[in-house]
Amino acid sequence: MLKVLGIETSCDETGASVVRGAGEVLSNVVASSLAQHAPYGGIIPEIASRAQMESICAVVCQAMEEAHLKADDVDAVAVTQGRGLIGSLLVGLSFARALGLAWRVPLIGINHLQAHLYAAFIESELSFPFTGLVVSGGHTSLYEVTGIGHERLVGSTRDDAAGEAFDKVAKILGLGYPGGPAIEEIARNGSRGAFQFRCHCGPAHDITFSCINTALLYKTQNLKKMYGVLSRQTIADLAASFQSAVVEDLVSKACRLAQKSHSRLLAVGGGVAFNSALRCRLEEETRRRGIELRLAPKPYCLDNAAMVASLAGRLLQAKKYKTSVHMDTLLG
Ligand code: KG4
Ligand code: ZN
Repeated sequence: MLKVLGIETSCDETGASVVRGAGEVLSNVVASSLAQHAPYGGIIPEIASRAQMESICAVVCQAMEEAHLKADDVDAVAVTQGRGLIGSLLVGLSFARALGLAWRVPLIGINHLQAHLYAAFIESELSFPFTGLVVSGGHTSLYEVTGIGHERLVGSTRDDAAGEAFDKVAKILGLGYPGGPAIEEIARNGSRGAFQFRCHCGPAHDITFSCINTALLYKTQNLKKMYGVLSRQTIADLAASFQSAVVEDLVSKACRLAQKSHSRLLAVGGGVAFNSALRCRLEEETRRRGIELRLAPKPYCLDNAAMVASLAGRLLQAKKYKTSVHMDTLLG
């Protein structure tokens, strides 16, 4: 079976992975510069790309070693070619290009969002059609998918992405960056019914989180005016109520679309899909509505190269890959 080395450097992570076929992950190495960004409350592109320059060689070597492969064993190199930070993408792309040339194997450019979308099928069989939900730091998108390369966007966020909403709310609550894991953690001790943050959903399948964020901001400001400093319990209640509002909105939008579709199969990926409350509610709701659910396994939710290599493997199998990666697609 074909073996693909994947490289992912679209944001702060440096990832390398070897996948056999399309779904057998032989290695998946991720180095993150997150700790260096945390003091600034967000990703600093210059810090990210410099850290990637420093770590990419070691990360790729480790992925090859863990997969017990030599250069000759690799059939293709795949790399994220867009969406992402331009400096970061260039690090991965330049490295992958050099490997492709040196090893005389095809270089396959992968779209980051498409990789998140298909991550739900790593280690399981891919079948079409399906409804897809991608929830990441930069995107919240609903797709109807009929084949590889046939992903029709039917709904997306009109303001913040789901991950961005978590990050902003964590900042308001003084929980630091990144917000998703911090909110999930503290929400475990909170009551999700303590505050009502409703999402005033827009038409059709579009998604908006700014109303929830604004409601939480005003509530937090009012509570501070009344009590001064917020207690740990109040912060936990605010976090749990916020998380529940976001989760319920995502679950109902995704399930409604999947139920309408003839496949009744829902695939979910992206960094926010790591969230246990979201995973749990998706499992409950899809079971109740008779929808089959494929959740990206946790190691493949946050940015990783296994999803890049796996999608490239599927493209190779379907003979649908383009070998030339153009710099102008970096921004797309
Ligand atoms: O997919 P990803 O790794 O990067 C992008 O493509 O953007 O997603 C990162 C986002 C961040 O906004 C982070 O706060 C969020 O995923 N995230 C979470 C959790 N872990 C990471 N959101 C909610 N719950 C989590 N446990
Ligand atoms: Zn991502």
